[in-house]
Amino acid sequence: DLEQINIIDASKHVDEKVKIGVWLTNKRSSGKIAFLQLRDGTAFFQGVVLKKAVDEATFELAKELRQETSMWITGIIHQDDRSHFGYEIEVEGIEVIGESEDYPITPKEHGVDFLMDHRHLWLRSSKPHALMRIRNEVIRATYEFYNKEGFTKIDSPILTGSAPEGTTDLFHTEYFDRDAYLSQSGQLYAEAGAMAFNKVFTFGPTFRAEKSKTRRHLIEFWMIEPEMAFMHQEESLEVQEQYVAFLVQNVIDHCAADLKTLGRDVDVLKKYTQLPYPRISYDEAIDLLKQNGFDLEWGVDFGSPEETFLADHFDKPVFVLNYPKAIKPFYMKPHPTRDDVYICADLLAPEGYGEIIGGSEREVDYDLLLEQVKKAGLNTDDYSWYLDLRKYGSVPHSGFGMGLERFLTWITGEEHVREAIPFPRLLNRIYP
Ligand code: 4AD
Ligand code: MG
Repeated sequence: DLEQINIIDASKHVDEKVKIGVWLTNKRSSGKIAFLQLRDGTAFFQGVVLKKAVDEATFELAKELRQETSMWITGIIHQDDRSHFGYEIEVEGIEVIGESEDYPITPKEHGVDFLMDHRHLWLRSSKPHALMRIRNEVIRATYEFYNKEGFTKIDSPILTGSAPEGTTDLFHTEYFDRDAYLSQSGQLYAEAGAMAFNKVFTFGPTFRAEKSKTRRHLIEFWMIEPEMAFMHQEESLEVQEQYVAFLVQNVIDHCAADLKTLGRDVDVLKKYTQLPYPRISYDEAIDLLKQNGFDLEWGVDFGSPEETFLADHFDKPVFVLNYPKAIKPFYMKPHPTRDDVYICADLLAPEGYGEIIGGSEREVDYDLLLEQVKKAGLNTDDYSWYLDLRKYGSVPHSGFGMGLERFLTWITGEEHVREAIPFPRLLNRIYP
């Protein structure tokens, strides 16, 4: 019996006869030879069917195959230095498993709405495939990083009664006879976790009913939220930059072929592994923007043009520290010598990608936090468990949240964050 392999392992089977389960992505043929473009989910490569080497029925079958037909093929692996992949298979036998007719995504150009309507099929194409493989690597490297740094993963609930990031973009749902929301952030639960396990991270889906239709906003996105007890903001910034640089390095090391498929220049990425990342204050950022022709006042939140300018100015991710209180959430710790800003930072990515991380030191005083909860217009009963954390051995602690898809869009150089998640939920899309 023949050994069944995956395309990705072709290099280990040169000059061997093997069996592979594949789909046809494209083909071209002449009277004497058929070139089959094949994929098996692990990689893409070419099958060559020579008329003189196979029986007539097999050659006829090869010429008739339609896009996305699934089949078993048998044949001999050859090195092929002319191809992108480096190997091909000289096909000897073809056994069709599942027919395919009129596959909607043809090799010609399609509009993005059409492709997104067919996302369940589009995932098979080389670019989405490369992106999802990089996503998988970033997830893997995230667990590696936090495990090696001594963090415990704490899963925060998705159904919740709290609204850490403000009440305007909550997804409301019924929870039997009471109200609930889909989680905007696992942070408040991560803080409880940090008091129980010292260093923790949550990693799960988060939801924002944001009526923003920008290339940076998803309605449902995945967030990594580390939270560290006995830690001030300066040390948290070091964790953040080390984490980001670790992810970039692992993508460079493990996803070379996928980056190439996406046309991402690895030399650009290498710059982002050099630490430290610059740190500037919000005040300095405002001055810098004003000097460069931006018309804005102290106190405003940055939009896409401002964030793009700032990170491009440094040609690296840049931390912007100490934002005005009015534009940040209630749980942040106020600056020790200024009553108008918090001890917080956003990490802005260059090349137009903007904020990829938001984080802060947390308010640790019971009375001050209670005041903040009230000021934010939140129901104190819903936060009494969170306030408890300040009643029983409150300690300085800091944390941050990184949007997985924002990070990926930046690292892969994609235009829109919708490319970075298998099935994006957007303002106008919940299908497929
Ligand atoms: O800045 P945000 O809202 O911060 C929090 O949720 C904090 N609780 C995090 C923490 O301190 N534990 O969101 C954090 C990150 C952003 O920097 C961005 O990367 C991502 O989450 N993000 C989004 N990604 C895609 N679509 C959206 N609508 C996003 N909103 C935030
Ligand atoms: Mg933010």
